[in-house]
Amino acid sequence: MSCHKKAYITTPIYYVNDIAHIGHAYTTIIADTLARYSRMSGLDTFFLTGTDEHGQKIEESAKAKGKTAQAYADEISATFKKLWDDFDISYDKFIRTTDEAHKAGVQKAVLAMHKNGDIYKDVYKGHYCISCETFFPASQLVDDEFCPECGKSTTIVEEESYFFKLSKYQDRLLEWYENNPNCILPKSKRNEVIRFVEGGLEDLSITRTSFDWGVKLPKEMNDPKHVMYVWLDALMNYLTALGYGTDDKNIDYWPARIHLIGKDILRFHAVYWPAFLMSLDLPLPKHIAAHGWWTRDGEKMSKSKGNVVNPIEIADAYGLDNFRYFMLREVPFGGDGDFSQKALIDRINSDLGNDLGNLLNRLIGMSGKYFEGKVDSSNVDKYYKAELDEVHASLDKLEPLLFEMQIHKYLQELWIPLSIANKSIDRYRPWTLMKEGKEEEAMALNGLIAAILGKVAVMLYPVMPDICTKISNALNFTIDNKSWNSIIKGTNLLDTFTIEKIPPLFPRIEELRLQQAEPIDTNSSTNSGNAKKAKVAKPIETEGIALIGIDQFFQTSLKVGTVIEAKEVPKSDRLLLLQVDIGEDTPRQVVAGIKEWYSTDDMLNTQVCVVANLKPAKLMGLKSEGMLLAAKDNNGLCMIRPEKPKTNGTPIG
Ligand code: MSP
Repeated sequence: MSCHKKAYITTPIYYVNDIAHIGHAYTTIIADTLARYSRMSGLDTFFLTGTDEHGQKIEESAKAKGKTAQAYADEISATFKKLWDDFDISYDKFIRTTDEAHKAGVQKAVLAMHKNGDIYKDVYKGHYCISCETFFPASQLVDDEFCPECGKSTTIVEEESYFFKLSKYQDRLLEWYENNPNCILPKSKRNEVIRFVEGGLEDLSITRTSFDWGVKLPKEMNDPKHVMYVWLDALMNYLTALGYGTDDKNIDYWPARIHLIGKDILRFHAVYWPAFLMSLDLPLPKHIAAHGWWTRDGEKMSKSKGNVVNPIEIADAYGLDNFRYFMLREVPFGGDGDFSQKALIDRINSDLGNDLGNLLNRLIGMSGKYFEGKVDSSNVDKYYKAELDEVHASLDKLEPLLFEMQIHKYLQELWIPLSIANKSIDRYRPWTLMKEGKEEEAMALNGLIAAILGKVAVMLYPVMPDICTKISNALNFTIDNKSWNSIIKGTNLLDTFTIEKIPPLFPRIEELRLQQAEPIDTNSSTNSGNAKKAKVAKPIETEGIALIGIDQFFQTSLKVGTVIEAKEVPKSDRLLLLQVDIGEDTPRQVVAGIKEWYSTDDMLNTQVCVVANLKPAKLMGLKSEGMLLAAKDNNGLCMIRPEKPKTNGTPIG
């Protein structure tokens, strides 16, 4: 047996009556991120996902499609598994509640609860929502009939049922919440749960007799017409996946480090599940973390509204790692988020392209131009200790943020080192250092940038595994527990290496790539593997007026830059020759017809707005690689400048 510290991380198991959408992908991607970090930091990690296949809802969906419940479950479960495989989700086990071992484990647990005196037989009278697979007392219904959760009509149920003595655990549950302030995250959700439990718990009906697609009661209880309530069956997956009730093979991973769930299923996880565990005399999970909902144009996504966003389609159009980054960065954990392609594009172009990708390009450019690709960190401490200290202080804050589920803050904080790196280039200007013959200092700057990129790549790896592997390859190191220990836990820099020239990681996205994220074809249960082709948006046209679409606007690359050198053009009354730093490895030469209104001193060290993707032109024999934005009326010309200083290269738009 391994002596490493263990970490067990789970997603909910997904119902097989639906095709996966970005809401499901969100839960799984967060869990995958935690699992990858956990492994990288040396914990012996077990990451579980799977499908929830029993219950009345699935039975009815299968019937509606003319299939047996098992055939239907097989089909949809496979589409979930394929999606996670296509998404390179690093799960260790994919459990299905129709697995024999799972069913045996559930029966074993129910028998144990029964023996403990926590299960008794009675008659259940009340309302049941099939869609939510939940019983509701009449007092909670809307208009005496409708489900308070999903608004669908409930059915009146009166049948013999076994009950679990949930009420018996009320005080112990409250004690648990009280003594473990982080057991439910975010903390606001913990308060909701406490209020609910303080309101009083009724015993829970845990068997049904009116349908039979479920796990039967254990033989020993001698009541074969009862099948288990789907939530009892489902929650038990977290234990049966480790071999509970069968081979106990991985049971040492229990208790879970974190159960990751959506806020809609918090009550089941934060009330029923710990009560079941108490009854089984097993330790309780360390954390239950509930995230918010992804909506589409402000509305909850649903099959019937046809506004479901297909994760495969988005990942195909915009890149899987970019999609992962967007989901985790865009919305504070626990809050709801609206999905929009525009917001996704902004994140890719700005955070990823401008701040991260461009930094790597600058490093490749500088190293290539001045040092034949070599990067040597030996003198970083000598020249840039202050910057390094700041970077390390920022990195030290990261790990706790991740496991407190403040993932958006984790990513925010991780961008501070990137900004230190970008600012250092602007401030110390390698091209000036080289001109002044300060080669050692310029190489140290190179080393600083490489070290920062390397450290960021390690900490970003759990969120963007593929991109960060490319970065670490370019920087000639491997992201693993060894490098994590050395450059994250330790303050080491990178060994001397020759940088690999790789193509830009985040080519600028100029237009929406999907006309409209396609609703998922719910008639096809295999479409998750067949991503539809991305459709490029057509420009909007209005009769008689030349309107352009946002996509056309984005074809112009506008950037903030700083004039770092300004000269007059000999024999010209009109032209100035400017070198403008727009965040690239070398400044852009711009020949501007502004001499009538601006002197070289007026322009030097000022910020300007540059059209950065114009074809180069020649003016008076001088190459011009951009155009400055200016406004001219009868009173003359003035430059258009950012109102506040902005980092060179910041896109405008
Ligand atoms: N089968 C139960 C879970 C049992 S766990 C022991 C279930 N399945 S589900 O397929 O309906 O939902 C699985 C997860 O997907 C939940 O965490 C849910 O919150 C999440 N999401 C489903 N739609 C969602 C969004 N639109 N947005 C974010 N997540 C949502 O519940």
